[in-house]
Amino acid sequence: MRYRRQETIITAMWDRIFSDTAAVRGGRADLATVPAHVPPIDLSTTYPLPAVAAGGDSYENLATGGALVGGDSPVYQRLWNPTVARFEEALAGLEDCPEAVAFASGMAALTAVLLACVQEGRPHVVAVRPLYGGSDHLLASGLLGTRVTWAAADGVAAALRPDTGLVLVETPANPDLRLCDLDRVRAQAGGVPLLVDNTFATPVLQRPARHGADLVLHSATKFIGGHGDALGGVVACDAQWAGALRRVRAVTGALVHPLAAYLLHRGLQTLHVRVRAAQETAQEVASWLTTHPRVSAVHYPGLSTGDPDGLVGRQMSGPGAVLAFEVAGGLAEAAAVAGRCKVITHAVSLGGVDTLIQHPASLTHRPVSGDAAPAPGLLRLSVGLEDPADIWSDLARALDSPRRA
Ligand SMILES: Cc1ncc(COP(=O)(O)O)c(C=O)c1O
Repeated sequence: MRYRRQETIITAMWDRIFSDTAAVRGGRADLATVPAHVPPIDLSTTYPLPAVAAGGDSYENLATGGALVGGDSPVYQRLWNPTVARFEEALAGLEDCPEAVAFASGMAALTAVLLACVQEGRPHVVAVRPLYGGSDHLLASGLLGTRVTWAAADGVAAALRPDTGLVLVETPANPDLRLCDLDRVRAQAGGVPLLVDNTFATPVLQRPARHGADLVLHSATKFIGGHGDALGGVVACDAQWAGALRRVRAVTGALVHPLAAYLLHRGLQTLHVRVRAAQETAQEVASWLTTHPRVSAVHYPGLSTGDPDGLVGRQMSGPGAVLAFEVAGGLAEAAAVAGRCKVITHAVSLGGVDTLIQHPASLTHRPVSGDAAPAPGLLRLSVGLEDPADIWSDLARALDSPRRA
């Protein structure tokens, strides 16, 4: 039973506290039997087969979405990999879900969910904007055979159709950190599966399954990996969804590489420490930005303006480490500020140990147009683990410098 899910002792402990212990120890139940102290990285693309018939049975099981049965051959990396499975087990535990399925990127994870809906004959998606620009683009394009209806959070029920296969929300949302009351969306979605993108909050701050989410998606590239060196996506869900997603993953070849899975699993061990420390700095930076004369708005769930429904403390245990602010003067001024940062890196992505700034309308949300497009003066800041004073002074210099002609 090498690949068996971790026992409920971890889950029970985790109910009492956010289990820092589960973050550090999840997905490691089998290491003593390996034996090893850190998870081995299994790079095999193929595996020895005991016999044709047994190998064929294992192939059939895995290619149709089954989990590896202890003692069976994994057959082929695209079907199953033990390093990936350990990461999935750990992440599922942190998200309060029975299972998780990991993919090559967050977009590959979303693609698999959408393809599973199409396969079920329910290609209609109700999505609450804003969303990450790539997710918005994928839905708007209809590339996978889905059809989207954009809805406000309180308009989800009215947007449902008989062929609706999914309700999709992000909270806090990329790029303007808008929050969504998951209990209310859950009630409106009725029996339709609800997917919550939990990339910004992480399970340290928010566990959507406790609010009725059927699928909890992460761009694991962000806080979970936490160091900007591993691309991955993951969906935590029940066993039935996990089977459907593994099947899509096996057929489309969307498995995360085991080296990346190792790094993502290792990232979970420090997730709580990183998120809490970066959040503390983000709160300070957000408060400081509200006092700056060249900043016309600050979007952050830790400010009363950013949490009108009082979700921090109820749905989230903290406001997180990402914020956005609008620079007076619009696009040209925002672009100048981003370009003048020296300590803060001007780059897309978020959730790493180093602070990143980027202009959503030009980059991450470039494909989003019309009313849903980000404000031209909006900058998104992912706060890292540097000395808070260095982040302030860099931002102060970038905001205060006169713009070059
Ligand atoms: C909230 C959110 N979801 C999904 C994604 C897509 O993830 P990936 O870049 O790993 O494909 C991103 C990427 O920035 C994101 O911010």
